[in-house]
Amino acid sequence: METKNRTLVRWVEGVVELCKPEKVHWCDGTQGEADTLFEEMIKGGGCVRLNPDKRPNGYYFRSDPRDVARVESRTFICSRKKEDAGPTNNWEDALEMKARLNGLFEGCMRGRTLYVIPFSMGPIGSPLSQVGVELTDSPYVVVSMRIMARVGQQVLDALGENGFFVPCLHSVGRPLLEGEEDVPWPCNPENLYIVHFPEERSIYSFGSGYGGNALLGKKCFALRIASNMARDEGWLAEHMLILGVEDPDGNKTYVTAAFPSACGKTNFAMMIPPKAMNGWKVTTVGDDIAWIKPDKDGVLRAINPESGFFGVAPGTSYETNPNAMECCRRDSIFTNVALTDDGDVWWEGMTKTPPHHLIDWQGRDWSPDCGRTAAHSNARFTAPVKNCPCLDEAFEDPYGVPIKAFIYGGRRMSDIPLVFQAFDWVHGVYTGATMGSERTAAAEGKQGELRRDPMAMLPFCGYHIADYFGHYLEMAKQVKELPLIFHVNWFRKNPQGQFLWAGFGENMRVLRWIVERVEGKASAKEIEIGWIPRYEDLDWRGLDYTESQWNELMSVNKTHLRQQTLQASEFFSLLYHKLPKELWLQEQILLAKLS
Ligand code: OXD
Ligand code: MN
Repeated sequence: METKNRTLVRWVEGVVELCKPEKVHWCDGTQGEADTLFEEMIKGGGCVRLNPDKRPNGYYFRSDPRDVARVESRTFICSRKKEDAGPTNNWEDALEMKARLNGLFEGCMRGRTLYVIPFSMGPIGSPLSQVGVELTDSPYVVVSMRIMARVGQQVLDALGENGFFVPCLHSVGRPLLEGEEDVPWPCNPENLYIVHFPEERSIYSFGSGYGGNALLGKKCFALRIASNMARDEGWLAEHMLILGVEDPDGNKTYVTAAFPSACGKTNFAMMIPPKAMNGWKVTTVGDDIAWIKPDKDGVLRAINPESGFFGVAPGTSYETNPNAMECCRRDSIFTNVALTDDGDVWWEGMTKTPPHHLIDWQGRDWSPDCGRTAAHSNARFTAPVKNCPCLDEAFEDPYGVPIKAFIYGGRRMSDIPLVFQAFDWVHGVYTGATMGSERTAAAEGKQGELRRDPMAMLPFCGYHIADYFGHYLEMAKQVKELPLIFHVNWFRKNPQGQFLWAGFGENMRVLRWIVERVEGKASAKEIEIGWIPRYEDLDWRGLDYTESQWNELMSVNKTHLRQQTLQASEFFSLLYHKLPKELWLQEQILLAKLS
């Protein structure tokens, strides 16, 4: 590995001096390197090689039970000024935080190897891509990062002598003392810090080895730091999937969709349309993050900066998402799922009947009647995008794909209809800004509780969320043809608690309507909250769904919606001093319509 980038070399030297690792290894991202690391981790007891007949090149990990999800309460945006982080982020004075981090990182890699991971978010060399370098003492992070991002010498070459990169420093926070034996999943949950310095564009993460806390290219860089870059440079870094919809004549329309964590973005991104909708096809560009920039002609174009899927395993099956199952058939890493007796993996929902015996995510014997789940509810697969059977042909396109619609959505049991279209861009921004969703297991906190999650960015916006709304409104000036904005809710239930909509492939019916609205082909009806399809506006081929079912699914109770709007307004009050006046106006208009 070679680099002439002096800033990088000096930074690595400085970190070596501070963290005092036993060795330093520059990662080339090759399969050979990964094989060696897996081998070492297997020897150390932290990893299991899965049965190569069942899961070729598949590996299994169990985390420490205290280290299973993103930890928002320990995630900080240390902007120079507190008001730039805003009330939805944790903030501390940057200098004080730096001093604390210096103390924690001092000697924290003793007895371990420091891995240098040069990575590109987006196709290497693309004008929409960015380079980062993660320094970590976790070999699990190394093998995961080489799936989730493009890693290796080519990145250093693209970086060149003077290129800019985002420094990402990570440690599990468990130095190994002389003669001490390592634990299978080292971590330090008592001293957890995931810290971003937005002006400096740097990331420090200490104490966790799990997911978004540790794979720093994902949430920390591609969303929190990138949202700052995007604001400064006139683009958008969004918590959005990207998919292509092909109609029977072969015309392709690309859309993005923002749903909160663990609300089915991966399923939607890889959806298989119902057979009866002959000739309609969905292709996947990304399942979690979109970087969206106007090109020189003012067309909004998007790339998926990642090269892997970090998908929630429970609930994924050949019935619900066969494409995701194919993605993790091989070359994948599984964390906190259960292990079968024949060396394969299993999780709740994978098959209708569970195996008679498993080893669960905590290493204990498990049987169907033991009263515990076999996999943790936030168990994950880490799988290469390249394995995706429905991968879009433009996935590697350095210029990205043109985006025609933004879809917002949440997990809402009641009140919110299946789909509506915002009246215009500003109303769409209001719709995104007031999104709410019931909490899932992707992060710590009480599951099921309704929380505001604007644009699904609440835990990921790296600056004041009201300024972020303002940036959205500003973007309209640079874009020739603004995407239409929609809101969906796949999760509505009746008073008996049954889902009113089957979701999954059936969502194609909604997607077709959306795409045809973009093309000006589909009609709609205006109601208080936007434009909605009437029963006859949807393609019902192959589905027995009556007009009265539809009416229940799409019904709007003005009193309830008014309450929802007022609740969203409480959230807006937190942002009072910075909230763009356009959004207050939208709220007033909506309240007037609902009264
Ligand atoms: C994720 C998340 O892991 O949003 O994608 O939490
Ligand atoms: Mn996500």
